[in-house]
Amino acid sequence: MSESIQGPRGVRDILPDESWKWAYVLDRAGEIARRFGYSEVKLPIFEHTELFSRGVGDTTDIVEKEMYTFTDKGGRSITLRPEMTAGMMRSYVEHTLGVPGGNPAKLWGAGPMFRYERPQKGRYRQFWQLDYEEVGSESPLVDVEVIMTAIELFRTLGMRNLEVVINSVGCPKCRPVYREKLVGYLKGHFDELCDTCKSRLDRNPLRVLDCKEDHEIVAGAPDIFDSLCDECAEHFKAVTDGLTRLGIKYTIDKTLVRGLDYYTKTAFEVKSGDLGAQSAVCGGGRYDNLSESIGGPHVPSVGFAAGLDRVILVMDEQGCSFGSAPALDAYVVCPDPAARLNAMELMYELRRAGLKADMDYAGRGMKAQMKTAVASGAKAACILGGDEAARGVVAVRDLTKAEQAEVPAGEVCARVAELAGRQ
Ligand code: HAM
Repeated sequence: MSESIQGPRGVRDILPDESWKWAYVLDRAGEIARRFGYSEVKLPIFEHTELFSRGVGDTTDIVEKEMYTFTDKGGRSITLRPEMTAGMMRSYVEHTLGVPGGNPAKLWGAGPMFRYERPQKGRYRQFWQLDYEEVGSESPLVDVEVIMTAIELFRTLGMRNLEVVINSVGCPKCRPVYREKLVGYLKGHFDELCDTCKSRLDRNPLRVLDCKEDHEIVAGAPDIFDSLCDECAEHFKAVTDGLTRLGIKYTIDKTLVRGLDYYTKTAFEVKSGDLGAQSAVCGGGRYDNLSESIGGPHVPSVGFAAGLDRVILVMDEQGCSFGSAPALDAYVVCPDPAARLNAMELMYELRRAGLKADMDYAGRGMKAQMKTAVASGAKAACILGGDEAARGVVAVRDLTKAEQAEVPAGEVCARVAELAGRQ
């Protein structure tokens, strides 16, 4: 026999014991979106590679090393999306979703992303994001609203011990000034830098700031806030003033630069102590020039994406509620092979009445079927053998109280609904 095929490295099957938790979180994410005025966009999973190389930036780790890129049968270079922001902006521009000078278009979406990263706890090659974007506003209050959305999402899910970290990464006016100062400083410490940072020095020096190895050098690096232009400094103050006014606690981390090149002004993350090395449950920021970099008009915007896999890891670790686990209302028990069609008829009737019902197909004995009924979490077992069928009754067993009574066939749905608390 040939070896059985397994899933590729870094991807996971979300199995029934976990998938109901995902459905719960996705429901809450949609609810938050509606409450905060975001409309859903279902974006394609693959895009032209250029969208990401120009949008996310071709000196980022994502574009340099992590994209799943292939040539399709028409000879086009296609990439499985590593994130949603570039796609959301493409869609906004392509379909003219905004009103010039009006309020931002508030868009959200959820789905799988793909990055060829080294798998570890909380880091996968296929992972899901909940993505919220406010496209078409330069108001710092919109940055505040985006952070408020993230906080409210996590609060609704019952997550605790989270930390909001925020920084400003400047804009194309002031960042080159800082970049030059930083490169000058880092060149003076070149020999002490790790190999990755040595190679980053020319291509993407700001990324050296969030290196996990070069702490001491980073600690002595020039302060980005000394280089911010007035506009960026005022914007940052307005964002932090807004957060303070709303009682949203934050920490300023001047080494937070994020791994995508499109950010301008605000960059932020929400971190959890319960995740180990991959501590960010969400990341986001302002990206005023992304639209232009993909050939669109000037569309100042801000947004964030939360990692659904990580959110669920944290919720599990913190014992958060996922609502109630899926359970049946009724399990139809039929110990008599001659009455199985009667049992199926009853099950169908229960389902048409809006109840969750199932039955045995393995032809097992009464005891085994009752065991399955209990394990299914059903509130009622509907026992229907040849004798009951002949008399037009069903024995309905209340599995919570272990009490049983015969009910006329026509009243079974009502009785089950009563036991399941669905009236
Ligand atoms: P990002 O920081 O690359 O930002 O990803 C956002 C979140 O996705 C992370 O904080 C993390 O929770 C999750 N995540 C990222 N990579 C993985 C992975 N390999 N496995 C599991 N989870 C992962 C963005 O993608 C930006 N598009 C966010 C944004 C939206 N900025 C503005 N708007």
